[in-house]
This record gives sequence, C-alpha cells and structure tokens, in this order.
Amino acid sequence: MLLWVLAALSLAVRVTWADTPANCTYDDIRGDWLLYETERTGDAGIDCEDMGPNIHRTEVSLMYPNIAVDEYGNRGTWTMIYNQGFQNKVAGRSYFAFSLWEKTGDTVLSICDKTLTGWSRDITVRNWACYRAQKKAAAPHKTHVLQRMAQENSLYKYNKDLISAINSQQSSWVADVYPQYETMTLMDHLRRNGGRASAVASRARSGPVSFMTRLRDLSLPEAWDWRNVSGVNYVSPVRNQGNCGSCYAFASMGGLESRVRILTSNHQKPVFAPQDIVGCSKLSQGCEGGFPFLIAGRYAQDVGVVLEDCYPYEGKDDTCVRTTCTKHYTAYYRYVGGYYGACNEEEMKLALIKGGLLIVGLEVYDDFLHYKGGIYHHTGLQDRFNPLELTNHAVLLVGYGEDEATGEKYWSVKNSWGEDWGEDGYFRIRRGVDECAIESMAVEAVPIP
Ligand SMILES: *[C@@H]1O[C@H](CO)[C@@H](O)[C@H](O)[C@H]1NC(C)=O
Ligand SMILES: *[C@@H]1O[C@H](CO)[C@@H](O)[C@H](O)[C@H]1NC(C)=O
Repeated sequence: MLLWVLAALSLAVRVTWADTPANCTYDDIRGDWLLYETERTGDAGIDCEDMGPNIHRTEVSLMYPNIAVDEYGNRGTWTMIYNQGFQNKVAGRSYFAFSLWEKTGDTVLSICDKTLTGWSRDITVRNWACYRAQKKAAAPHKTHVLQRMAQENSLYKYNKDLISAINSQQSSWVADVYPQYETMTLMDHLRRNGGRASAVASRARSGPVSFMTRLRDLSLPEAWDWRNVSGVNYVSPVRNQGNCGSCYAFASMGGLESRVRILTSNHQKPVFAPQDIVGCSKLSQGCEGGFPFLIAGRYAQDVGVVLEDCYPYEGKDDTCVRTTCTKHYTAYYRYVGGYYGACNEEEMKLALIKGGLLIVGLEVYDDFLHYKGGIYHHTGLQDRFNPLELTNHAVLLVGYGEDEATGEKYWSVKNSWGEDWGEDGYFRIRRGVDECAIESMAVEAVPIP
C-alpha cells in the first residue's frame, strides 16, 4: 500500500499548460501501466489542477492492436490520440490523460512512461476522479528541438512563382492568389493551418483492409455527397475560423451539426460554438490546436457543447465564460477502424454513408494554401518566401466520387476558411492513396439530437 502511494507521489510533477505536446509513439505507450485515481465521487466539473490523494490503483496492460486487460482479466480497449496521449476503457471506466512532457527553451522532453493529470469516469459519465498513469517498466525519455519559423511575426509575402509553378506542373487542380493572405503574419498562417500543437509528428499510416470490409465496400454507391442526397442537403454552412488555430473545434462542431441534421431529417439545424471549445476545453490548446477525437468525442460526451448564440465566436484565446446554456452531448465516438492506426479508405466510405460526416486530419503543405479548385494532391513544390511548419489541419469529409473525364478518385471535404476559399469553401483531394494523411485518422462522433 505505502509503496504505491510513494510511487504515485513521485508523479506529482507540476506542469503548466502550454502549446508544445509530447511526441509519444504507439510503441512508447504499449505495455503494462499503473493507473492511480482519486476518490470516484466527482462530477463533470471536477478540478484536476491538483491530483489529490490516491484512492484507487488499477493495473492495466495495453496490448496489440487495441486490447486493454486489467489485473482481474477484464478486457477493454485502448487507443493512442495521435502522439499526444492515450485513452483506455476497461471494466466500465474510461481514462484519458495527455503524456507527460517538459520544455526547456526550445527543447521538449517527452516522458512517455508517465502522464499528466487527466480524468477518469465511469462509462455512464457519473462518477469522476482525477487520474494519472505510470508505466511499470521505465521507458527512455526522448528529446526533440522545436523548429521555430525564422520570422513568425513578419507578414506573409506572395510568391507568384509558386502559383504558376503549381499550375504548369500538373492539371488536376488549380492554384490561385488569395490577396487577404498578405494581411496575415506567418504565425497567423501557421495557426490557421492547424496550430503548433498539431505539428506533424511522423507520417501516419493508414491501416490494412479486412476481407469483410472489402466485400461490404463493393455494394456502396460510386459517389456520395451529404450536400445532395436525393436533392436534400444535410451539411451546415461553411464558416471561417480566422487567424486562430481552431480548425479542430470547427471541424468537430460542424461534424456534430450535420449529424444532428441527418438524425432528425433536417428538423433540427443547430450551430454549435467553437469558442466554447477554444475558451473552456482542457482537452485542447485553444488557438494553438487540438484533436477532434478529444473534442467532438470525449469533450462533447463528458462536458457537452453549447450553441453558437450562447457563446459567439471571437477567434482568439479567452478565459472561459461558463454559461448556463443547454448542453448537447455525444452518444458515441471512435476512430474509424476502431483505434488510431486502423483507418483506411474502405472503412471511411462505409462509416460516411452509414452514419454521416467524418472528421479527418490533413497535412497542410505550402501549395495547399493556394488551392482554388479541382482534385488536390501535394505537388512537392515549396514556398521559399514563407517557410511554414508542417501541421495537421482538421476538416470534414462530406462525400466522395470520381472525375468523369480522368477517372481520378477523390474525397469531397469541407474546410473552415470561409466560402471564398476553394470550391465555395470546400475542396476535393485524391482518394485511395492516403494523400496528405487524409485516410489516417478519421473520427466518427454521434451526437444525441
Ligand atoms: C516524433 O517521433 C517520431 C518517431 O520516433 C519521429 O519520427 C518524429 O520525427 C518525431 N517528431 C518530432 C517533431 O520530433
Ligand atoms: C443533386 O444531384 C442531382 C443528381 O445528381 C442533380 O440532378 C441535382 O441538380 C443536384 N441538386 C443540387 C441542388 O445540386
């Protein structure tokens, strides 16, 4: 007894909230863990800034591919959330915490065998506790140095040569000039592309396709578009996130909005509030980025989301204004395929048609900013004037199809850069080749209308 209390105390490293997450891989996390919890009597408003006394200890083994087993042999599931941390569900409880990290100057130390203080609760979302985890066998800590852009605050300068190079190199898609870009700094662009907290860790892979999935996939239509299902549109209007790294909040809210429309045959058309996420969510990093699995999924289930009218969008970090507005909740959420790393084109098509819009991630390269129309693929061309970091941008999958003339397969995707961008706020992108990692991390979140 005393031993595990001492072990848990050594976890009590105070870490302040900031914009640079750890970089932990599947292999860093897989293995045997001790989960420590405070008394399981809290509610959704529980404050876990300070962990409090440890009351419960659970041993859990996180195994390949997504199996979690506790010390009594109860089987559950687990998933990585990109490189940020992990969620596991076993014996009626769900646990989430970010992986532990420390930052000195521009050097980040990833301490992947420990977590920050997170939250656990039973699957009925009633009894909450603060939670922390420690791996039984210590894993080596890793460092990486943040690549800072040279002139974060200098204004973006148009590189017309890049536009003409894109347009002369290929004919699948067309690049154009967006004059408003020159009013934005490089940092504004970085935020709009996903934010520093969603920097690309390493090339995500899309998962293998099972025989049964291939069979079911054969019976799907050639094309699909939730904006026009037998003449009916189920997709809420395109919005503009501005210069805040809130794409993950817009994609999450937009996904829930459209699914409410689908679930109620358009009788309910809510618009949810991304500002509530930016200002209030402890599961994301405000205007520095975040991950839809944790927002459309866990936050919307645990805490609930509110309507736009209740908390209008400001486009900047702000202190949370806790309101008394009605909350709307997510009933069920998952990574398509069952866990992070199991996604692929076929599973995405099935989930899209069966349930509705999926929230997907996209690696944003320089050329993508200039997309005006057509079927996008990364040309490999780089913008020497405006050196931006590679980020993950969250967007919404609404459909798929095939170009009539060329036969090129594509996804139709809703962006959050306003209606003037791309094809009326949307873009199309190559399908079937995990273009820019778009087939690697689709999230499905089912709201309760
Ligand atoms: C994160 O870790 C992966 C795997 O070890 C590595 O390939 C990648 O470069 C790392 N990313 C950063 C930003 O250090
Ligand atoms: C919806 O799709 C049908 C069939 O492809 C097409 O005829 C119709 O014009 C479309 N409606 C809208 C509003 O785009």
